Amino acid sequence: MSRSHPSILFVCLGNICRSPLAEGVCLYELERLGLSGRVRVDSCGTGGWHAGEAPDPRSVAIAREHGVDISGQLARQLRSHDYRDFQFLVGMDSDNYRTLVARKPAGSSAQLVRFMSLLGDDPTPDVPDPYYGPGDGFMTVWGLLRSGMGPLIERVMTADP
Ligand code: 4NP
Repeated sequence: MSRSHPSILFVCLGNICRSPLAEGVCLYELERLGLSGRVRVDSCGTGGWHAGEAPDPRSVAIAREHGVDISGQLARQLRSHDYRDFQFLVGMDSDNYRTLVARKPAGSSAQLVRFMSLLGDDPTPDVPDPYYGPGDGFMTVWGLLRSGMGPLIERVMTADP
């Protein structure tokens, strides 16, 4: 698969909580903006423990409450050719971002982004990991993803190919 059009890969740790939601929010925002089909969107985890699994039911539920269906996604782990296949690799937190930097192959032109850096006032460096926390963590994640997605799409649509 080549980078024939703009492309975004959302990356968290397990690819069952945050990055599947980010993928869903991004597709939802693209549709709202009349940009459906213009950007390739996917998600993955830096770890492979949950590979092949559907998103966490709490992520599925919060998305569904907002009219977004992420139930058909399947988790997978980050692989080296993601740096060729995707123009933007977006880490959900500082750890994910550091892993993206560390695994970047020499010569790759992929752009690495820490998601929260897209918000001008950067209220927190991380989209917090909700996996072990109470259910309202997923609501926080949803809100942060909604806030940063417009700036991300704007950046992607105005970037040089
Ligand atoms: P995610 O959340 O990185 O947002 O998908 C997590 C999912 C699973 C685990 C940690 C975080 N885990 O330790 O299994």
